[in-house]
Amino acid sequence: MDPRQPQSLPAELRTERLLLRCWRPQDRIAFARMNADPRVMEFFPAVQSREESDAVADRIEAHFQQHGFGLWAVEIPGITPFAGFIGLTHTRFETHFTPTVEIGWRLAADHWNRGYATEGARAALDFGYTTLGLNEIVSFTVPTNLRSRRVMEKIGMMHCPDDDFDHPLVPEGHRLRRHVLYRLGR
Ligand SMILES: CC(C)(COP(=O)(O)OP(=O)(O)OC[C@H]1O[C@@H](n2cnc3c(N)ncnc32)[C@H](O)[C@@H]1OP(=O)(O)O)[C@@H](O)C(=O)NCCC(=O)NCCS
Repeated sequence: MDPRQPQSLPAELRTERLLLRCWRPQDRIAFARMNADPRVMEFFPAVQSREESDAVADRIEAHFQQHGFGLWAVEIPGITPFAGFIGLTHTRFETHFTPTVEIGWRLAADHWNRGYATEGARAALDFGYTTLGLNEIVSFTVPTNLRSRRVMEKIGMMHCPDDDFDHPLVPEGHRLRRHVLYRLGR
């Protein structure tokens, strides 16, 4: 699905206020801190231990190795070296809209509501359409994650209720199994 060789892709993206960059070993400390914060993990099954957080970082770095893009580490120059991640990934489960590339974001709560997710997401979308040549990018979350849905709406994604789905990696009967899907074509 990747039309370009990983090594030919730009390593980082810049926006007016953000640097979306490759991960550094020291990012893992701040990443674990945010993944242990109940506010950040409200719409995930549980807060994460240091080991679980590192496993997510390992998976993110492996995606960069394989594809040359992924969930970039977000630096806010002059404010913080690491605020979370924003970026694109190949969806890692099978359902009616896969295979596809999804856009995602997770920021430390101290940096919410300043438009950072929207700003970074716009740069990631542009990268997906212009550099990767994708025709469509999706995003999904639980219906009650209004902050994330608001970001999806602000970047122009469309929700079609017919697309709503049960997340295959969430156990049957779990309160977080049902998801809404947003799509945006090139
Ligand atoms: C989702 C997340 C990345 C948004 O980051 P952010 O930088 O605060 O996003 P933005 O500032 O660009 O936009 C947030 C929007 O949500 C709105 N918002 C904030 N709290 C809200 C609430 N409780 N209900 C509805 N909308 C809300 C803001 O007002 C803003 O919209 P506006 O610009 O129209 O006013 C951040 O909240 C986060 O990391 N959450 C935890 C992890 C997560 O849920 N990730 C997504 C998993 S799918």
